[in-house]
Amino acid sequence: MTKLLLIFGGPSAEHEVSLVSAKNIYEVLKKTDIEVTLVGITKNKIWKKIKGEDLLKTSFVSSLDLNLVGEPIELIKKESSLFVHFTDNLNEDLGPFEVAFPVIHGPYGEDGVLQTELSQLGLEFVGTDTLGCENSFDKAKTKNIIAKTDIPQVAYLVFNGERPTFNEIKEKLGTPFFVKPANMGSSVGISKVKTAEQMTLALIEAYKHDKKIIIEKGVVAREIECALLERKGLEASGLGEVKPNHDFYSYEAKYLDPNGADLIIPAQLDQDIANKIKKMAIECFEKLGCRDYSRADFFLTQQNEIYFNEINTHPGFTSISQFPMLWQQEGMIYKDLILQLVSNAESRVKRRMGK
Ligand SMILES: Nc1ncnc2c1ncn2[C@@H]1O[C@H](COP(=O)(O)OP(=O)(O)OP(=O)(O)O)[C@@H](O)[C@H]1O
Ligand SMILES: [Mg+2]
Repeated sequence: MTKLLLIFGGPSAEHEVSLVSAKNIYEVLKKTDIEVTLVGITKNKIWKKIKGEDLLKTSFVSSLDLNLVGEPIELIKKESSLFVHFTDNLNEDLGPFEVAFPVIHGPYGEDGVLQTELSQLGLEFVGTDTLGCENSFDKAKTKNIIAKTDIPQVAYLVFNGERPTFNEIKEKLGTPFFVKPANMGSSVGISKVKTAEQMTLALIEAYKHDKKIIIEKGVVAREIECALLERKGLEASGLGEVKPNHDFYSYEAKYLDPNGADLIIPAQLDQDIANKIKKMAIECFEKLGCRDYSRADFFLTQQNEIYFNEINTHPGFTSISQFPMLWQQEGMIYKDLILQLVSNAESRVKRRMGK
């Protein structure tokens, strides 16, 4: 019987989404013989053991406040196993935990920091490891790696603290263009720029979140998503489309406006285009060093040009998240998807133990 740590919350703008993802995963796992211990990370990065009954209360409308529940804990490595100790000295040893299932989106959970912490503890975990997370989260790194393949991307420029003028960028990329912090997510700090005034504000906004920014040529395009999963081998799902009801798929459209975007599954596409996108998605996953699962996002123009946009190593697991919905379309129900991911991590533990 596997002892598993389900880790959720974290400091990013998607803290509440993470709680809902974790609640859904917990609902599946508690009906199996996997023994789950819940670990919530507060927005201030305090790790806490959370009771199942508390996590089950969370919802998008009324989110659980991790500051008000649970016991602070410290994960420490003991001999060759991992135990959880309570810092209040109850001296209760839970564990050893064989695997962790981190479900934290955005900075800290998706950029490789948490993955480094888990690796240092010697704990095997579900999902992409440190290097793959760094490659996939840092938009400049991602683009530079994919630029070495034949996969098309929109033209882009990377800046480390420099402040290019509107005209310089307009000359190189045309307008509109997008200004983005290199390391962020959820569209935080992203602006669409059409004027010199917007450029000034866009640079301030993007540099608030990172020392490095990327500026991309704007395309008029459909947004197509592909879910990737390692089962026997790496597989790509059928495709979905996000149709933002805003100027672009902004933070507001994603989280604040309940009608911010329409999700269309399956995306209405020519088979030939769909196959090309799926093939590219698989290559991006491999080139960036992703593991277990991810969601790759593409732009598709009216002229049928395909551009890879980004890969999300930790897509949402809420009931309205694209990733599980895309697999459902393939006949893989939510429960089987979760169990597959846990089983991937369990296999790595077995391999490590030479079994
Ligand atoms: N080059 C572009 N041309 C047209 N639209 C763009 C471009 N870049 C970004 N967008 C729009 O901005 C949105 C957010 O951009 P992007 O996906 O790069 O950000 P993100 O914060 O990493 O997203 P996520 O939450 O998926 O991690 C896209 O979904 C799209 O609507
Ligand atoms: Mg995106």
